[in-house]
Amino acid sequence: MTEPDYLGINRAAWDHRTEIHVDSAFYDVPGFLAGGCSLRDIELAQLGDVTGQRLLHLQCHFGLDTLSWARRGARCTGVDLSPRAIEQARRLARQAGLAADFVCSDVYAFEASAQASFDIVFTSYGAICWLPDLSRWAAKVVQQLAPGGRFHMVEFHPVYDLVAGYGYFHRDAPDIETEGTYTDGGDRAAVQTKLATWVHPLGDVVQALIDAGLRIDSLREYPYSPYNCFDGLEEREPGRYFMQQAGHDLPLTYAIAGTRLDG
Ligand SMILES: C[S@@+](CC[C@H](N)C(=O)[O-])C[C@H]1O[C@@H](n2cnc3c(N)ncnc32)[C@H](O)[C@@H]1O
Repeated sequence: MTEPDYLGINRAAWDHRTEIHVDSAFYDVPGFLAGGCSLRDIELAQLGDVTGQRLLHLQCHFGLDTLSWARRGARCTGVDLSPRAIEQARRLARQAGLAADFVCSDVYAFEASAQASFDIVFTSYGAICWLPDLSRWAAKVVQQLAPGGRFHMVEFHPVYDLVAGYGYFHRDAPDIETEGTYTDGGDRAAVQTKLATWVHPLGDVVQALIDAGLRIDSLREYPYSPYNCFDGLEEREPGRYFMQQAGHDLPLTYAIAGTRLDG
């Protein structure tokens, strides 16, 4: 039996979601156009000063974070699977008067030009669950970095997946679901789409990056999400959403930084 076209399923879902997201309070495009920054404390602290850095943003969605890095002085390229997201990202760049390249591509298929090796590769919040194979992903990350270049990721913690009813350990077969999107809370019924996702335990992420030739410089876990994007979160501090199990905070986010050492 031939495998379903998971990439096509997710592309269609993200095209559809993009149309909802650009107008959502969750993403607050007017706030961004008025000068706001969509980036959160974790990645801002981790990446620090990005002035003049060539930054590749993998799975950039419709470019808000990419353009926020551009506003902070980075020379940005954003890559995303969804043609609608890339169209909207280019539109947003024009509206904001910011320069950035946006490329519509599957992460695995993305090839920058021979000269384009990046000082920073960045990915965040809800990226790797769309990817079936972390070894290929990690190889792509390292391939796009210049020697000495830095990889930064901030991602939702897989312990949350477990609590939410998914598995913890990776399986080749994806979880296929038809569901709403995470923006605008109660309105979810309006935006049902079919999605294919894969869980990735933290150990698999770190090991894939090490195997691909990255030196891991830091791995940090946080007991909050900076986004109110899961059911049952509690905003205990401004912009920090916590969840407890048996009276204890769950790890909801983790961040990895690494360096490409070889030539
Ligand atoms: C949750 S969003 C990215 C998160 C980002 N922090 C944000 O909220 O804007 C996930 C993105 O991954 C993209 N995506 C999914 N599968 C992909 C793939 N195989 N290659 C490239 N992009 C992919 C989707 O189109 C979507 O824009």
